[in-house]
Amino acid sequence: MSNGTFYVTTPIYYVNDKPHIGHAYTTVLADVLARYHRAAGDDVWFLTGTDEHGQKVEKAAAKNGMTPIEQCDTTVVRFQELWKRLGITNDDFIRTTEERHWKIVQAIMQDLYDRDLIYKAEYKGYYCVACERFFTEKDLIDGKLCPDCQREVDTIVESNYFFRMSKYQDWLIQYITEHPDFIQPAFRANETLGFLRKPLEDLCISRPKSRLSWGIELPFDKDYVCYVWFDALINYISAIGYGVDQARFERYWTSCIHLIGKDILTTHSVYWPTMLKAIGLPMPKTIFAHGWWLTGSRKMSKSLGNVVNPMDMADKYGVDAFRYFLLAAMTPGNDASFTEEDFLQRFNTDLANDLGNLLSRVVKLSIKNFGGTLPAPPPLQPLELELLSKAALAVKQLENELNAMKLDRGINAVMNVVREANKFLERTAPWTLAKEGKTDRLAAVLYTAAQTLEIVSGLLFPIMPEKMTQLRRSLGLSEEEIVKTDFQSLSEFADPSATKRTMVDMPPLFPRIVVEKPEEAAPAKPEKQKKQEVKAPKTKDVVVPEGMVTIEQFFKTQLRTAKVLEAERIENKTRLLHLKVDLGNGDVRSLVAGIAQQYAPEDVIGKTIIVVANLMPAKIAGFESCGMLLAAKNETGLKLVTVDGGDAEPGLTVG
Ligand code: MSP
Repeated sequence: MSNGTFYVTTPIYYVNDKPHIGHAYTTVLADVLARYHRAAGDDVWFLTGTDEHGQKVEKAAAKNGMTPIEQCDTTVVRFQELWKRLGITNDDFIRTTEERHWKIVQAIMQDLYDRDLIYKAEYKGYYCVACERFFTEKDLIDGKLCPDCQREVDTIVESNYFFRMSKYQDWLIQYITEHPDFIQPAFRANETLGFLRKPLEDLCISRPKSRLSWGIELPFDKDYVCYVWFDALINYISAIGYGVDQARFERYWTSCIHLIGKDILTTHSVYWPTMLKAIGLPMPKTIFAHGWWLTGSRKMSKSLGNVVNPMDMADKYGVDAFRYFLLAAMTPGNDASFTEEDFLQRFNTDLANDLGNLLSRVVKLSIKNFGGTLPAPPPLQPLELELLSKAALAVKQLENELNAMKLDRGINAVMNVVREANKFLERTAPWTLAKEGKTDRLAAVLYTAAQTLEIVSGLLFPIMPEKMTQLRRSLGLSEEEIVKTDFQSLSEFADPSATKRTMVDMPPLFPRIVVEKPEEAAPAKPEKQKKQEVKAPKTKDVVVPEGMVTIEQFFKTQLRTAKVLEAERIENKTRLLHLKVDLGNGDVRSLVAGIAQQYAPEDVIGKTIIVVANLMPAKIAGFESCGMLLAAKNETGLKLVTVDGGDAEPGLTVG
């Protein structure tokens, strides 16, 4: 990561409704990547925006008694305000209703039409309004339901314009196969290749105005508007000057990483590359699909009333803690569970206890014993050198994990150093050194801990910019030093200027959040402690007898139906089968199961089984295992747990 160009995009969000945690996650992830790359000196461009055309927006406008553009103008502000609140540093914000965008869409359509890559034909299809997508009969569930959202589709027969997408099928298969970085994680590339095993059809890219008028008019037929996805995908190039400022466009385009959610994989991994190929443009570097945030183990949906509002979280617990949670709690690529309990637990452990305490101990002891300015330490002892080398190692670990898009693991490596630093203080006991007047050793211990904090706060800076600024200010860093957080500088831990700084005390960085127990009268607390604590919303505390779990604890385990797509034996492993299972919504996983002595591969293919979907992935016998299947055990062997009737669709919640 250094001195290159880095162009990162989020999906452009529909303006039919206010933003939710899924939108916030992708945008915070993009922001954090952009900040790391900027710190490394890269030429960064970070784009986000809104998708303003199409039936969804038109319908929302009608429902709200507005014109479509009024709906857009009202809702776009919610996104822009949220990004401001969450400290998002996007360089541009594109709205598809802007002239700079629709003019390019029209120019591209005209060019493709002139080159016979767009043609007119009669069309019969099935349309899902919620997903804004057409499907063929074979795609549908039970001949009538959308394969993505399971809502009933509309049948439509009409004349329309088509993009010759089918022409590029072989090219796309070859491109994906030859460019392993193109679609990530790798299992999403496999999923796309799986989709491309069926013949690829041409893409219907128009809508007659008689049915939908809210869109970009086709330049060659005034009775039609452009299909919203064909319009939307082009934002990634119209925003950086395609067709207008070629130099700027070329500077950024091929370094582009598109961050998307797993539900919009096909539009990005099939429609978009074939569109670019037809236009005559190179491909973006990477399309990265992350998983979904679930509420506990359930899908977030308005009808269930369990959608997490990011603005509320930021207001309640602070922007940086929310940013931290989003990135620390989700392994990019997999689904993650959100509950306020988990949030509070992580807040109190990682931020209040581990990081906040470390800072407060170091600063208070340095002020008390040295007026805040540490003297030059004597030569460091092995324990001190060990901690500093662990911190230096974390710099490398975070950099590597970031490049592999495993930010949660990078964060964990950094937080492990924080925990090590607290242990180091327990072992070296600077408070005793102070009492015993061992000033030299005390200086060495505090110097080591302060240097460790300087490194970890630099590493966490892109994730929690406000809090890490405060932390670094408290360590006595100058405004210039505070923002110097590139990996190179952070590896140079033996900073001689450190002893010239003066540390300053400040209120706790992350005051512990106390969950109030409504029934118990809380014992009186000292005034000082009261000030440092923030009250969390009341949740009912339940005493759980040993060996029992609450319903919330049970639902932390996500059990889902899964269909076994493939199965094979593993060489030299008589107990194991390697399976490919479908968990619905495009979530196809590799899984290793110890059932080979009871089941041959052909016995399990096609079976609908139950899988623990949120188990930490592990490598077993050289294969990635993302989940665990359920089986009943007795002395003679195993019996797979299957679903009554055996025909339930994959991805259903069990419980
Ligand atoms: N407008 C299209 C994208 C066009 S990009 C050229 C769109 N918009 S959206 O507002 O419906 O969704 C935007 C993103 O939110 C998608 O990437 C989707 O995966 C993501 N999420 C929606 N619900 C989510 C969760 N519960 N969790 C994580 N992300 C989720 O699709």
